[in-house]
Amino acid sequence: MDQLFYNVLGLVGFAHPLHPVLITMVVGPVIASFLFAAVALLFKKPEFYKTSRQLTVVAFIFWFPTVAVGIIDWIHFYGASTKMTEINIKLILAGVLFLVLLGNIFLFKAGEKQPLIPVILMLVATGLVSALGYFGGNIVFGGETAKTEAPAPAGKAGVAADGFKEVAQDGYTLGWKIHDNLIDVRVSYKTNGWVGVGFGKTGTMEGSHIIIGFILDGKATVEDHFGYGHDKHGPESKVGGKDSLTARGGIFADGTTTLTFTMPLSTGNPKDPVLVAGETYKVILANGGEDAQDLETYHGRTGRIVLDVTL
Ligand code: HEM
Ligand code: HEM
Repeated sequence: MDQLFYNVLGLVGFAHPLHPVLITMVVGPVIASFLFAAVALLFKKPEFYKTSRQLTVVAFIFWFPTVAVGIIDWIHFYGASTKMTEINIKLILAGVLFLVLLGNIFLFKAGEKQPLIPVILMLVATGLVSALGYFGGNIVFGGETAKTEAPAPAGKAGVAADGFKEVAQDGYTLGWKIHDNLIDVRVSYKTNGWVGVGFGKTGTMEGSHIIIGFILDGKATVEDHFGYGHDKHGPESKVGGKDSLTARGGIFADGTTTLTFTMPLSTGNPKDPVLVAGETYKVILANGGEDAQDLETYHGRTGRIVLDVTL
């Protein structure tokens, strides 16, 4: 449904989230409604109270498309991730806002006699829209808890007993060994869900050669993908290439998923970066969270890191 919605909007060239456009029609009227109710109370001007009430109705009407598109945006741009606490909080706040706006509309008559009621209700509503905006901003710009996307300083690679170079960061371990124009890679993270690694020059999903996989019932699925959008990746065939992995496997043990694969340093795929020993790349490590034994679940804002790695 979200795809259809944005496909239709795409016909007129609109590809941005629509929710941030609609919120103004809730936030503005709520704050204005509070101000008019306050003026009606302080200056004893009942006609201002009518305006306040009309503004509450406007906010109430726009509550519906705003919330609906908020949910569509969450599905479309954030893969309906259940790892976003902001969304749970916003759903609760939006529910309370609904009740407060409805209450203010129904208490119209009582409010005329006791003007303090709408002032209090709309003050609460103002607080609610502010909080909704705050958590919305956290989604867009990253909250305090969101991990920085800036690349960590080049991790000092150690050498494991089996000759693999290794870096460990934030719970991820990446190991690699270059030989015969091939690179053996292993990547692990404490999860039973998918784990992914992306090689590129930018540290963004777009433009990175991504290998992603998971273990289900002891069987490893490891796929060769490419990031073709800031929020999209898919099999190499999507960008005119082909699966270049010459070996693949993986295990799930002690709560940790480890993927292993081998690929040519130069895959021959049109967009993949050619890897060269001794050169530094931006390597993305990502995971889909517990139970994400698939290739679709969004990693959330904290489920990926970017490292500078010298191969
Ligand atoms: C009437 C209630 C709501 C208000 C006033 C509101 C307000 C906001 C604001 C101010 C932003 C930041 C926009 C920006 O900085 O560009 C935002 C973003 C966002 N909100 Fe809401 N929000 C509401 C309800 C919801 C609900 C119910 C959901 C979904 C469950 C939701 C999902 C989102 C998402 C996903 C974003 C990120 C931007 C996007 O992709 O659309 N919002 N919201
Ligand atoms: C499995 C399915 C995946 C889905 C549904 C998904 C979805 C998304 C979405 C919606 C965004 C934009 C919102 C945000 O910045 O958080 C994003 C950004 C990002 N993703 Fe993914 N992703 C997936 C897999 C991966 C994998 C395997 C990697 C790397 C190994 C990765 C690395 C990144 C990075 C580094 C960003 C932020 C920088 C950027 O490219 O703009 N993602 N992803």
